[in-house]
Amino acid sequence: VEIPHIPVIKDETIEFFKDLKDGYVIDCTTGFGGHSEAILESNPNIKLICNDRDEEALAFSKKRLEPFKDRVEFTYGAFSTVFDRVADKNIVGVLADIGVSSLQLDKLDRGFSFNSQTLDMRMDTNQQLTAKDVVNGYSINELETIFKEYGEIREYKKIARIICDDRKNKKFETSIELASLIEKHFKKAKIHPATLAFQAIRIEVNKELDELSILLNSVKNSNMKDGIVAIITFHSLEDKIVKNTFRDWTKSCICPQEVMRCECGDNHDIGKNLTKKPIIASKEEVNQNPRSRSAKLRVFAIKR
Ligand SMILES: C[S@@+](CC[C@H](N)C(=O)[O-])C[C@H]1O[C@@H](n2cnc3c(N)ncnc32)[C@H](O)[C@@H]1O
Repeated sequence: VEIPHIPVIKDETIEFFKDLKDGYVIDCTTGFGGHSEAILESNPNIKLICNDRDEEALAFSKKRLEPFKDRVEFTYGAFSTVFDRVADKNIVGVLADIGVSSLQLDKLDRGFSFNSQTLDMRMDTNQQLTAKDVVNGYSINELETIFKEYGEIREYKKIARIICDDRKNKKFETSIELASLIEKHFKKAKIHPATLAFQAIRIEVNKELDELSILLNSVKNSNMKDGIVAIITFHSLEDKIVKNTFRDWTKSCICPQEVMRCECGDNHDIGKNLTKKPIIASKEEVNQNPRSRSAKLRVFAIKR
């Protein structure tokens, strides 16, 4: 069987999990099981909870990880709620390799690509909100906000306006229509002018930044005492969230700045940041798999 996704920064990632003694690692974003399989192979003491919100991916990984079935459990759903599904298990590791899988990107009927006949972009196809709802239903102000915040598009007002003008005549039905409208109004640049707009819509449809913040918060509030948290991100907005969160987790004193003497107990740090700088893919890896180009891995060791 052909595996539709190549795991990124895999060797570097599993290195951090190899010394765990026993217990469960949650793979929040199992996808096609590349990282999961590598952890299971390199660490025979560890059990895995394999989570994803894409049923197609989970079904694939169930087959792929069949040889390890005694050590694997599968859960379906958003990772913002994954801790609700692991009950009282002894969690010693959390891995999230966020963003879209190659299959989601490449399979036209998922609606992530410029050539799609649909306008969908849901990672979880049971979810209500689709890209079509966003593009046809959001107000001009809402569109401006997502293009500005999630696309970091300089001309966010213009792009929201051309969409709103165009949909007055006829609603958008396909990604092709949206991409070609944007193309018509923006000069050709190094990247396709619709790239950032699609990114913004995708982040909105899948609530990607909220998902990440909630996941990190649930790790902090979990009963993990000792363990590894590894997060791989694909764009700067996400990396910033991970970086700042890990920094906060190392702060012992959380008193507001104006306080003269510490009143918080000075015991709020929950462990150690293991990656002062993010780990990125090697040149060889980027050559073999260009999608690894923007990946960043940050790792935190919880100890409390
Ligand atoms: C980059 S792929 C993971 C690939 C995987 N590590 C592998 O080796 O095959 C990202 C996966 O995360 C899932 N995903 C992204 N955000 C999610 C979320 N908030 N909750 C659950 N799954 C999510 C996607 O459905 C996708 O399958």
